[in-house]
Order: sequence, then C-alpha cells, then structure tokens
Amino acid sequence: MTKLYQQLRDDHKNLVKVLDVLEREIALYDVREETGSEKPDVLLILDIMDYIQHYPERFHHPLEEAAFDYLNEHNLGNAEEIAAIRAEHKDIEAGSSKIRTLIDSINLGEAVSLDSLHSALTQFHIDQLEHLRKEERTVFKDIHALDDSASEDILGRIEHRQDPLFAEAATQQFEALLKYLEHR
Ligand SMILES: [Fe+2]
Ligand SMILES: [Fe+2]
Repeated sequence: MTKLYQQLRDDHKNLVKVLDVLEREIALYDVREETGSEKPDVLLILDIMDYIQHYPERFHHPLEEAAFDYLNEHNLGNAEEIAAIRAEHKDIEAGSSKIRTLIDSINLGEAVSLDSLHSALTQFHIDQLEHLRKEERTVFKDIHALDDSASEDILGRIEHRQDPLFAEAATQQFEALLKYLEHR
C-alpha cells in the first residue's frame, strides 16, 4: 500500500470517528436540563468542529484533489466521477461552516432551536458519510492502483502549498484530538 493511499484511508477512518463522537455530544444538549445528566463537553465539540472544518479543507481535500489531477493527467479513472466528487468538496465545506455558526450561536447564549442544530448535523453527517463511501467505491480504487512513484509525486504536489509553521501546529492539534478520542 502506498503512503498516499494509507493517508487517505486513515483520514476517512478518523473523520468517521470524530463525526460519531460529535453526534453523541450534541445529543447531550437534549437532556442537559435533566438533573444529574451528563453535560455536553463544549470544548470537545469545538475541537471536533475545528477538525471537521479545517482538516478536510486544508489537508484531506487538497491531497485528494492532487490525486484527481494526477489521474486526469494520465487519463486514469472516470473523469466525470472525479468532477462530481470535486464539486461535493465545496458542498461539504459549506455544510460544516453552517454547523459551526449554529454551535457558536448556542455558546453565545443565543436562542437556536436544537431541532435546527440536529437537522443540520444529521444532514451533514449523512452527506459526509455518503461522500466518503462514494470515494471509496470509485476513485479510491484508481488511487489504490497507483505505484509508489505516483504516490510520492502527488504527496509532493501539496507539500509546498502548506505554510510549514501552520501545518505543524495544526497537525499537532489534530493529533492531540485523535489521541484523546482513542482513550476516551
Ligand atoms: Fe473527498
Ligand atoms: Fe475523502
């Protein structure tokens, strides 16, 4: 398995995990009025929102899109499928900002109906999972078929795009979150 494919698969696994924890934490808002009930961990929710919003946008989607560029350049994979998946990245990024705005409003004490948060989150969760599954059924097969030199080429394409200081700080923050979730 190439480094590229391993990275993309790990990204998907981690995303599924954090989405699951986020949904469970948000569900605790429903029962927060009851005495003795577990309170939602607001800091954890915000950390996860940060992950969901920034990790795909800054790391996962650019890496996938570099792989899509490579596939397109070499006439590999299905160009139409690839274009549709690229378009979904924009929709997912818009969906995550919408949820972030709702959570920020709740934490500022504004009146936001839990129903609207739940439906936005449920929709986001469904869209995100569908997107991951679709990729795994389609383009991931073409990416899996690439050799190590293609993998290095693609990884090299995004490395220079990152501000190294930002990338290091963000990576440390995201790794800390994933580690925390492992021991929970
Ligand atoms: Fe994607
Ligand atoms: Fe993906």
